[in-house]
Amino acid sequence: QHALRLGVAGLGTVGASLVRLVQRHGNELAVRSGRAVVIQAVSARSRGRDRGVDLSAMRWEDDPVALARAEDIDVFVELMGGAEGSALASVNAALDAGKHVVTANKALLAAHGGALARKAEAMGVSLNFEAAAAGGIPIIKTLREALAGNTISRVYGILNGTCNYILTRMEREGLSFDACLAEAQRLGYAEADPTFDIDGHDTAHKLALMTAIAFGSEIDAEAIYVEGIRSITSADIEAADELGYRIKLLGVATRSDSGIEQRVHPTMVPKSSPIARIDGVTNAVAVEADFVGRLVLQGPGAGGDATASAVMSDIADLARGDLIGTFGRPATALAPYRRATMPRHEGGYYIRLS
Ligand code: HSE
Repeated sequence: QHALRLGVAGLGTVGASLVRLVQRHGNELAVRSGRAVVIQAVSARSRGRDRGVDLSAMRWEDDPVALARAEDIDVFVELMGGAEGSALASVNAALDAGKHVVTANKALLAAHGGALARKAEAMGVSLNFEAAAAGGIPIIKTLREALAGNTISRVYGILNGTCNYILTRMEREGLSFDACLAEAQRLGYAEADPTFDIDGHDTAHKLALMTAIAFGSEIDAEAIYVEGIRSITSADIEAADELGYRIKLLGVATRSDSGIEQRVHPTMVPKSSPIARIDGVTNAVAVEADFVGRLVLQGPGAGGDATASAVMSDIADLARGDLIGTFGRPATALAPYRRATMPRHEGGYYIRLS
């Protein structure tokens, strides 16, 4: 069997880390999965930029759509980002050409995940996205595979490393919002457009994907109530502290008899809750399910290496020949999204977290 040949589109923070990971652990991965993995070709906006990695063994392709359908690749790895444009065109091209797709692109999947998953299924290929939610935490596999025997009632957590980093540094060091954001960008945590992070949309995209898997329903990112952290001040953080709370940007998805509720907003979290103790770029996701009870996973929610680790877990599945359905059930079997009536809130959110 020949090596599993990857075409990687996008060589930003995550793409460069993935190149390093494959170069460093390629041999061990071949032993584990029984099949070598090679990066056959790459594509990115600027060819000349120094990314600190050796690309000399890889074919360069200027056009990501051409890369996606190239004869010499088996898997198209989409790390460009963006819900439309090149990302959408190239993922569609890869699926149409019968290539497996691995992506970290939550914005793309939140908008088009249902249609893309149906196309992947029709073509008999995989579309997988472990890296699209909560960085290095294996939350997609946990919901989709490890908890397959459970009915899940709630999924919630800190899903954006940039926001948690900003809130933590504002609280601990009294730094300004803008200074903390600039540092998060410098460290490679923030999205290309950081308004996605701070206005809550990145959290919403991740929540929408987790909701689809957890509750077996169509993705509906539009149904999410979204509010970011732009208006949080040091005074808010201090006031919460005096009352025994920390302010966290949470994504919460709950299923009840009346339907599904999805919300993203700054939340007063009691200091006794495990979620309150999550600092910096770390994310945490709690899952409430009938047979297992409550699980809390925590780990790095952003950053090149942690996210590349998640990308590689999807690639390893393909190397082993595990073709796992995108949402853990046939995409055609996702139930229509049924929206619960949400209570109106006027700020100062409080959600009881046991
Ligand atoms: N910008 C995201 C974050 C990266 O800060 O969490 C991971 O999706």
